[in-house]
Amino acid sequence: MRQPLVAGNWKLNGSLASTRELLAGIKAGLEGVTNAEVAVCPPYILIPEAQAQLTGSPIAWGGQNLSSETGGAFTGEIAASMLLDFGCKYVLVGHSERRTLYGEDNALVAKKFAVAREAGLVPILCVGETLEERQQGITEEIVGGQLAAVIDQEGVAALGDAVVAYEPVWAIGTGMTASPEQAQAVHAFIRAQVAQHDVGIADGLRILYGGSMKPGNAAELMAQNDIDGGLIGGAALKADDFLAICKAAN
Ligand code: PGA
Repeated sequence: MRQPLVAGNWKLNGSLASTRELLAGIKAGLEGVTNAEVAVCPPYILIPEAQAQLTGSPIAWGGQNLSSETGGAFTGEIAASMLLDFGCKYVLVGHSERRTLYGEDNALVAKKFAVAREAGLVPILCVGETLEERQQGITEEIVGGQLAAVIDQEGVAALGDAVVAYEPVWAIGTGMTASPEQAQAVHAFIRAQVAQHDVGIADGLRILYGGSMKPGNAAELMAQNDIDGGLIGGAALKADDFLAICKAAN
């Protein structure tokens, strides 16, 4: 059985004060959520606050990005070892906003994935197609290529201690969610692609859905066979909404 994971991607949101309030709210409301794993990914500078509040709780935390380098003259970057130092378990790799706004291509994403794993972090590899790509009927080609970039470079075994998040770009922050059937089809495709290399790893791989997941649609999405949790943006910024999704996963 794959343990569901609900991870909050806070993006560029929050202050020290709002982070304290949000974390306290999540912690207080999580009682009874014992079957699903819960994690939050705050902006880098708020990670120490997450560590201070969440150490000893069942909630994990992680980064939204990391450098592909391990150290040196790379102004403004954060290394995997630094995230680990502050207790991070997870790190998002290849989020579509990184790919489109910061020009991260498949090769760079694969390198970040490798660096994260080498340091002992669990990468959450984000994949997904744009609306144009879906309309052109090339969703599988795009998602398959994003996945293959990592498998080809790192070997399929690397997915044994990683998580994949399918996030259709057209559903992120738009309020337009993929239907459970649309999402399930791509999740099944991802698992089948991994199974071509290793059936055991494919069976154990957690594949999260992300893109306007909210309390009203979470249960239906996560009821699908190949959807093992969610990567939550907007709804992760309100304790009540995030908790409702965690409970749906549970
Ligand atoms: P959203 O973001 O839930 O606000 O659509 C999801 C994500 O980008 O990870």
